[in-house]
Formats: sequence, structure tokens, C-alpha cells
Amino acid sequence: MPVLLQADSIPPRALHFMAREHLDEIDLINRLYEILQHELLMSIIYPEAVQCLRKLISATRIHFDHEEQLMREKHYPGFITHRDKHTAFMQLLQDAHDHFVATRDKKKLLDFMEQVLKDWFIDHLRSEDFQLAKFSQRQHT
Ligand SMILES: [Fe+2]
Ligand SMILES: [Fe+2]
Repeated sequence: MPVLLQADSIPPRALHFMAREHLDEIDLINRLYEILQHELLMSIIYPEAVQCLRKLISATRIHFDHEEQLMREKHYPGFITHRDKHTAFMQLLQDAHDHFVATRDKKKLLDFMEQVLKDWFIDHLRSEDFQLAKFSQRQHT
């Protein structure tokens, strides 16, 4: 089965809790991607797919909350920009979910995963999250 995201897309300097939560998100993304690849009837795929998508949304919200809490505690200078990226991505995820529930169009959800989610995830981990981890670790040294 094809995998959408490799675990090694995570930058090496991520904080412990960030790295763990990113791995959990990658697992959910790959699981959803795998479910959608099945050539089974949509009525069979749909319940598992929507459940996995909702788990991904909730894990992502919790993860973003953890990062935003850390940024507030550390008075992180890039807080607003980083938080706004999270907010925009949550909206994209929610829109993809709502469209999937309304239409059951798995092709559209796969396109979203391949063309938006994958790049967003890798870019965000390598830029905003990487900077946050670096800033936070510097304060400890
Ligand atoms: Fe993150
Ligand atoms: Fe982030």
C-alpha cells in the first residue's frame, strides 16, 4: 500500500512531545490514505474513513493547542504567525471533512491529501515547528 508521509519528514530537532504527536498524526494520515486507496464500495469504506478523518482533526487540534500553549509560556515572538497557520490549516481540514461527509467523494479527499495536506504538513514541520523547537531548546541551554 502506498504511504503518503514518511516518518523521516520530521526534522531532527523537534521537541519530544512535538515529535511524538507528529508521528501520531503521520500514522493517522497514512491510515486514512490507505483506507481511501481500497477499491471497495464507498458504503464499506466511508465509516472507517470518516472516523479516521475525525481522529486526525481532533489529534491535530490537540497538538496545535499544545504548541500554542508552549509559545504563550515562552513568550515566543513568532506566536501570532504560527497560530494563524494552525487556524488556517484547521479550517482546510474541517472543509475537507465537511465536503467528504456531504458528497462522499473520495477522489476529492485524496486530491486534498496529495496536493494540500502533504506539503502543508512537511513545510510546517520544517519551518514553523522547527523554529519553535529551536527557540525553546535554546532557552534550556
Ligand atoms: Fe506541529
Ligand atoms: Fe505548529
